[in-house]
Amino acid sequence: GMIRKPAAFISTISDERGSELMYSGVKISEVFESGMGIGGVLSLLWFKRRLPAYCTKFIEMALMLTADHGPAVSGAMNTIITSRAGKDLVSSLVSGLLTIGDRFGGALDDAAKTFSQAKDRGLTPREFVDEMRRGNKLIPGIGHKVKSVTNPDFRVQVLVEHVRKEFPAHSMLDYALAVQAVTTAKKDSLILNVDGALAVCFVDLLRDSGAFTREEADEAIQIGTLNGLFVIGRSIGFVGHHLDQKRLKAPLYRHPADDIFVDMPMRVLAKGK
Ligand code: ACO
Ligand code: LMR
Repeated sequence: GMIRKPAAFISTISDERGSELMYSGVKISEVFESGMGIGGVLSLLWFKRRLPAYCTKFIEMALMLTADHGPAVSGAMNTIITSRAGKDLVSSLVSGLLTIGDRFGGALDDAAKTFSQAKDRGLTPREFVDEMRRGNKLIPGIGHKVKSVTNPDFRVQVLVEHVRKEFPAHSMLDYALAVQAVTTAKKDSLILNVDGALAVCFVDLLRDSGAFTREEADEAIQIGTLNGLFVIGRSIGFVGHHLDQKRLKAPLYRHPADDIFVDMPMRVLAKGK
């Protein structure tokens, strides 16, 4: 009989071989007829399922809230400098994306993990903060270079209000806000930042929407899904910065020398050597 050659790849999210493109088994015509929007498409391709409307709306909100935060942040700077070095759109975009990580924009999955594990272990917010400090670890999702209690991040406020109104439950968000109360009592800038706020709300979504088992919810965080939200959102801004620089015909950038402190020891060669 026929022996099927073992496949070199397995793929489970999309199929273009038939008459109509499908995302997770849903025909592209149905994608548009249902009006699921970009949040619905992301749900099909990332989670392989349709999610309730409040979830797809939240995903779209995450993309909108993270789309840009001005030219001064690490990623936008990289994109702008690359663009001004005459490089193309993809080079400028990935140059910006490469700054996304533990410190900037890439703290979501670790925040989701750290906050949910602490809450699941029954730690009070103060015990959690103290434990992290004893371990000499920064809390992912806490802290901002310019935003603070006195200069609040409006994005986080919008998000918190939305989730309180629209989500069936938000115990992880409540826990994170209680943690923020402890950290900001120490230092004004140790607020729940955008990464942290999105992360804990996403844990609430994964756990309480009824669309995921607990294992699926944990796996989504484990494999890096949440940082993907920031990557996709901020790509909108990075592309915008690249186009902006091209339109402005901005020349090659060189950083002013008087803004760099060169601290180089002089080495004097001994005579005769
Ligand atoms: N948890 C506990 N303590 C913190 C944290 C934190 N997450 N962040 C800063 N601190 C403490 C520092 O230990 C330091 O304490 P000290 O004064 O006793 O030495 C003090 O707060 C100031 O720290 P800095 O490093 O000067 O803070 P900075 O403002 O430069 O850092 C940053 C901001 C990078 C966001 C930092 O808070 C951090 O690494 N947070 C965790 C990662 C994170 O959430 N990143 C995403 C940011 S949001 C975004 O990019 C969209
Ligand atoms: C961002 O969204 O890029 C930030 O919150 C980081 C920053 O320093 O503004």
